[in-house]
Amino acid sequence: VAPVVAIVGATGAVGVELLNCLEARNFPVASLKLLASPRSAGQKMRFRGQELVIEALGPDSFQGVDIALFSAGSGVSKQYAPVAVQAGAVVVDNSSAFRMRADVPLVVPEVNAESMADHAGIIANPNCVAAIATVALAPLHRAHPIRRLTAATYQAASGAGAAAMEELRQSTAAYLRGEAFEPKVLPHPYAFNLFSHNAEMDEESGYNGEEQKVVAETRRILGTPDLPVGITCIRVPVLRAHAMALHVEFDEVVTPEEARALLADAPGLKLVDDRARNHFPMPSEASGQDDVLVGRIRRDLGDPSGRTLALFVAGDQLLKGAALNAVQIAERLLRRG
Ligand code: A2P
Repeated sequence: VAPVVAIVGATGAVGVELLNCLEARNFPVASLKLLASPRSAGQKMRFRGQELVIEALGPDSFQGVDIALFSAGSGVSKQYAPVAVQAGAVVVDNSSAFRMRADVPLVVPEVNAESMADHAGIIANPNCVAAIATVALAPLHRAHPIRRLTAATYQAASGAGAAAMEELRQSTAAYLRGEAFEPKVLPHPYAFNLFSHNAEMDEESGYNGEEQKVVAETRRILGTPDLPVGITCIRVPVLRAHAMALHVEFDEVVTPEEARALLADAPGLKLVDDRARNHFPMPSEASGQDDVLVGRIRRDLGDPSGRTLALFVAGDQLLKGAALNAVQIAERLLRRG
């Protein structure tokens, strides 16, 4: 029998994509419950040709729900995921609230689906950069263990939610009209600019919260708890796809040709690596795509030993970085009964 599904944060940037993914992938649903803040209660959203009325999230929201997809921020997840589990639902949580808890699997289905086996009611959906990066790293890591990673990210507005996407549009329009624009959602002007990720800074280490999450979660998903990772996370004025430069050191020499062959065959990836046409992964082409794009595969000449490769990756932050990955987890839950 098809499950009763709830989406918590249905009106958000990720929530809307959760709805789209369920519909596009023909996810079997007995009924769908849309939950958001009281601000949105009573508004309607369309699902499979039907209008569904959004309800305000509350302690009684999860009666009869089998699968609850949470994407309303950490605070809401901390408060309500246990309520949903108590009511008998399995929670797929898009927030960072439970990602590092030992009894909560942190899952990218292409990479570590087997870790789902022993969940205790909550499965965590990773940080968007960690999800996108590990889809590209795992096929290489399986063939040749990775022993060091250096990353620089080019992150879209969508990771900061629907309001940040709107701020990018508004500030760009204002800039083109020559008008002043006061940012409200993000800390710095976004139009024709880029800035260090707006997550909270750890004064002592100099790494912000986003960078810390990516490091911890990448290690956890790949099963490499001690992997040395250096990272710089940057917000760029792109609406919904993250890009990243990855420099990957292996235990042994790995040729770009072998890496290209491994990545070309891997699930969830599309090779975009055309040197002659200067055509490599771009946010514009990753947006709206399920597959993560990978290319610019070459030797990192900063390591003369030949053990380090450089790659460029782009993936839709709202899809593989969030909603799609969550729905793929839910699909595996269904298959396991
Ligand atoms: P609402 O639209 O009613 O504010 P985004 O990540 O794009 O900012 O979206 C956040 C999502 O989380 C929205 O759907 C938002 O609903 C929802 N949300 C925020 N706070 C709460 C809350 N306290 N209870 C339930 N849903 C919430």
